[in-house]
Amino acid sequence: MTTLLVTGTDTGVGKTWIGRALSHALVAAGRRVVAIKPVETGCSEATARLEDGALLAAATGQAEPGAALYRFPELLAPALAADAAGEEPIDLDAMLLRLEALSAGADVVLVEGVGGLLAPMTWEWTVVDLARALGASALVVAVDRLGTINHTLLTLGALELAGLEVAGIVLTGPETPDASTGTNAAAIVRLAGIDRIVTMPRLADPAAAGREVQPIIEWIRDPSA
Ligand SMILES: Nc1ncnc2c1ncn2[C@@H]1O[C@H](COP(=O)(O)OP(=O)(O)O)[C@@H](O)[C@H]1O
Ligand SMILES: [Mg+2]
Repeated sequence: MTTLLVTGTDTGVGKTWIGRALSHALVAAGRRVVAIKPVETGCSEATARLEDGALLAAATGQAEPGAALYRFPELLAPALAADAAGEEPIDLDAMLLRLEALSAGADVVLVEGVGGLLAPMTWEWTVVDLARALGASALVVAVDRLGTINHTLLTLGALELAGLEVAGIVLTGPETPDASTGTNAAAIVRLAGIDRIVTMPRLADPAAAGREVQPIIEWIRDPSA
């Protein structure tokens, strides 16, 4: 079993979209995939079907989970959203047990982070701690626009400090390209010394990104498969 943390430089950079695209492609290749959003905020009855947890579940076809494991109404970082809801902090060990149970029988487990890498899940732990406990490697999603070199290098630095392996990097095409769009991938290769980087064009449907996600599937190939 391979566990991949789909993290990113920020919220809104394309983590869920890439998670869905990967899920479709892996399922099409006959892999058993479960895609999990551990914590999601800004959740309500009205948004339920469009939430990350639900979109990921639809992409893999998994029976469960059909939504994020923890859902909070306020659109805040999880630690603050739990406080705002008057709820207890999320217990990391309890979450690990749930993730383990939900991952049983899967070839690939995709775990989407919340916001950027160091967003507080509680006041005690971040998604880095979760990924480390799961033995996950990290796929870093960023946007191919000005500023992304810095954001990506900061994220890679934090992953290195945490001792997490980097599976690769995906740069999502921005809605509005700028002068840097198209130049950032090569700059990151040069500065970070990682050549596992792809640029994802904007497409209408993540299910149609099979060819584009192929390199990522190569990077996360299960050594035991
Ligand atoms: N490659 C892409 N093609 C088209 N739309 C995309 C692509 N990547 C992201 N988007 C859109 O950009 C927005 C933010 O992406 P999302 O995956 O939700 O980001 P995150 O999970 O990092 O918050 C969403 O509306 C999503 O559909
Ligand atoms: Mg998301």
